[in-house]
Amino acid sequence: MILDEREQQAIARARNLLMEAGVWDPDNDLSCLVDRFLIRANKEQALDEFMLAVTERCNRIPLEHIVGAVAFDELPLVVGSGVFIPRPHSTVIHKWLDDAGLVVGAEVLDLCAGSGAIGLAIARRRPDLSVTCVEFDEVAVQYLKRNIARMTMKGIQVNALQADIRDLSAFSRFARQIALIVANPPYVPQGLELQPEWSSHHPQASVYSGADGLDLTRQIIALAIDLLAPRGWLVIEHGEDQAPLVRQLFEQHGLTEIQTIIDHAASDTTGSSVMTVGRLSADC
Ligand SMILES: C[S@@+](CC[C@H](N)C(=O)[O-])C[C@H]1O[C@@H](n2cnc3c(N)ncnc32)[C@H](O)[C@@H]1O
Repeated sequence: MILDEREQQAIARARNLLMEAGVWDPDNDLSCLVDRFLIRANKEQALDEFMLAVTERCNRIPLEHIVGAVAFDELPLVVGSGVFIPRPHSTVIHKWLDDAGLVVGAEVLDLCAGSGAIGLAIARRRPDLSVTCVEFDEVAVQYLKRNIARMTMKGIQVNALQADIRDLSAFSRFARQIALIVANPPYVPQGLELQPEWSSHHPQASVYSGADGLDLTRQIIALAIDLLAPRGWLVIEHGEDQAPLVRQLFEQHGLTEIQTIIDHAASDTTGSSVMTVGRLSADC
């Protein structure tokens, strides 16, 4: 692709601006923004929109919210302001899936589903499972439903349920039916300083969860005990330093076969890829 002089100057300026703004991977972000906004038939409009997008990124609006899309486990998902951007860290759940030994038709719940990334990725890998994504936030549910409709065109089937996981009555029909519950809940301790992409430009309820970050995790474990079928699995993503406490919570609720799995390949400077897995015993 041949860029004219103005485009080359705009790219050089954009790189400087992104670096000055403290964006952690300016070359990656620049290449996405060029691809999305600059290389267009209408060059005047493209230049204008490209610089607007760079300005937004310098204001630390998340890249994926600006371009409106994210690739998660090979799924092209739509995202935007008001919904959590799925992170590659969560693919640790999918890498483990083969170990779960789930039978055809088994019911799966993705709690705190956001845009539906985790549930949709499970359904892509195992189209024979019955997956339901649960989310309470109005805006997130809009993205969830859009992604489900888009993925339906690719033959991936997932159900959406708008519900608050603190409302046990919304889940009574699942009691003792579920073979696998997965969740990437908000798990950051209230008040912990984060990059502005998360602290200022994500909904608070998608990031923070109480003093130790585990309020929703406690809720999910308690709910799972009611919903899992005997030998059903619970898988929750969390921070690396939270692992001992999460394991303790699993133990306190009588879960067995507890293990914490860290995927170093999917970890990066923004955090580790960590989850704890546990199983309801056969006699529950
Ligand atoms: C860390 S985000 C994860 C989203 C998605 N699982 C992902 O990995 O991209 C947590 C999600 O939990 C949702 N959430 C927070 N509290 C909730 C609650 N009480 N009931 C249901 N969903 C909740 C938030 O709206 C947000 O979409």
